[in-house]
Amino acid sequence: MSKKIKLKAGEKVLFGGTAIFIVLAIIGYVILETVRLTSDKPLFEVKTHFDLSKLGHKGSAVFRASRCTSCHRAMNNGTNMGLSLDGIGSKRTQEWILTFLMEPEKTYEARTLDHGLRPKEAAYVARMPKDDLVAIAAFLYDLKSDPGSSTSPQPPPGKSPFIDSMIKTWAPEDWKEKYTDIRDKDPVENSSNSDKTQTRED
Ligand code: HEC
Repeated sequence: MSKKIKLKAGEKVLFGGTAIFIVLAIIGYVILETVRLTSDKPLFEVKTHFDLSKLGHKGSAVFRASRCTSCHRAMNNGTNMGLSLDGIGSKRTQEWILTFLMEPEKTYEARTLDHGLRPKEAAYVARMPKDDLVAIAAFLYDLKSDPGSSTSPQPPPGKSPFIDSMIKTWAPEDWKEKYTDIRDKDPVENSSNSDKTQTRED
């Protein structure tokens, strides 16, 4: 006859807690996968796009050959650990990007971590041949973002209850007189603005 092992109170709490945790994790995973598989919208929408110029194509090859992807992501490739450069062309000008690559510490708004002088890890970037950096800057400038993306100056099209609630909670009252809500602007004007951010300078 098998003898039942009696658990102590502390062991019951420990095993019970672990079991509940595992069950909740499994339920969460099943829900997430069900939503992901049945939803017609992708879970993570891609809100960036690119249309490479000739120089941009060259820059993309130089970018990949120059180990930039060990710290960056571009065109949805590269590491997730560092700074994503997708959409940077809607946030920065081509000149800013080039100047940053050549003189990072003078250009960046904050103290740089990796770009700059040796022994910083990306110090080699500023010493690359200028032609390569010009091509990379053209490539990065071709990486644009869609309205509503974190790198886009344009809000998402249509009304967003989330943005409304954030403004209500966080924007001080006097901002309403000082600033106009970019979403209240004439949609034609808005779209021509977004066209402006998309124009290419090459
Ligand atoms: C060792 C990691 C590392 C490598 C390699 C690296 N970067 Fe960076 N990059 C960073 C970090 C970190 C920042 C933020 C600025 C800083 O702290 O240096 C940055 C910032 C940038 C920015 C400015 C982004 C912005 O809008 O603020 C650009 C452009 C850029 N890197 C391009 C490149 C290119 C092109 C290469 C390859 C030739 C490269 N990086 C290689 C780590 C790296």
